Amino acid sequence: MTLVRFLRADGTLDREVEATPGTNLLDLAQANQQPLEGSCEGAMACSTCHVIVAAEDFALLPPPSEEEDDLLDLAAFVTRTSRLACQIALPELPTLTVRMPGAAYHLDR
Ligand code: FES
Repeated sequence: MTLVRFLRADGTLDREVEATPGTNLLDLAQANQQPLEGSCEGAMACSTCHVIVAAEDFALLPPPSEEEDDLLDLAAFVTRTSRLACQIALPELPTLTVRMPGAAYHLDR
């Protein structure tokens, strides 16, 4: 099991949920009331599933494809550790922390 920690845009903890490896991160987020629209349902055509991965966890994820990187370039509030949640199948990790992108973080930078 991987303990996924969902943070709000301001960095405060919204909730922690346990998930089995292989679970799609967007599906998990939506099942747990996270504000990710995911409007293209994983077809890599929208970037509304953009999340910011904690720096310490980012390198532990399988790297993004070129298509994912290209789409992230168009996302709002993008950071060095941004990912598209629909492209992440959870690896076996003790914890994975992701934050919702948003204005609060942007102002902090
Ligand atoms: S849901 Fe559209 S890119 Fe992830």
